[in-house]
Amino acid sequence: MKVVQYNGFQGSEQTVNYFRFLEPRVKDKLIQKYLNSNEKEYSLTAYSTLFLQLNAILSLTSDGILEKRILDLGCGSIHNQDHFKYPQGFEPWLCRFLHEAGAKPIGIDIANLDNEEFEHYQLDLGEPNSLDFLADNSIDIAHSSLLFDSPTMVREMYERNPGIEIQNPATRLKQNLLPQLEKIIKPEGFFIYQ
Ligand SMILES: C[S@@+](CC[C@H](N)C(=O)[O-])C[C@H]1O[C@@H](n2cnc3c(N)ncnc32)[C@H](O)[C@@H]1O
Repeated sequence: MKVVQYNGFQGSEQTVNYFRFLEPRVKDKLIQKYLNSNEKEYSLTAYSTLFLQLNAILSLTSDGILEKRILDLGCGSIHNQDHFKYPQGFEPWLCRFLHEAGAKPIGIDIANLDNEEFEHYQLDLGEPNSLDFLADNSIDIAHSSLLFDSPTMVREMYERNPGIEIQNPATRLKQNLLPQLEKIIKPEGFFIYQ
């Protein structure tokens, strides 16, 4: 498994071209299903998230996303508790998009994902062996965005480990997740996070 950290835009002319091919084919469905046909809202919320996250994923795949099992850790939820810090909210746009685009996303979040159409699980990624239910070598790509500095994640980690040092929650979560990801991600696959 290759581990890649990205920060802001990671992509190329080729990934942007593929994004420009895919995105218009999926956009209308997302706007109708989740945004009451409000196109402006889509531009303000989903588009920039998708542009950054999809380009990052595409930058590491040579054969696109079709049929790929893509795990999104801390995928976002309409019920997540991070809204107070980030008023734009964090809905699971990546998983919704991938699902409509013909990939096989699996979204995981500590907040409720009921009613989402993609495969999803509500669980705490800070718990040891939280990903054990996924078969070895079953995932092509794992992704996570803004999980490691999520206020919810930091709060959960402090509640579980009172007294841990201020910089430690993200490190602890990574240490918990990396060996598990090594097992479930295919050897040629990758974990990309920001
Ligand atoms: C800042 S949001 C980012 C959402 C999405 N990845 C995005 O980039 O738009 C962080 C998400 O991580 C989730 N989260 C935080 N701590 C978690 C934990 N211990 N286990 C699972 N999910 C967690 C939160 O509920 C929230 O939905």
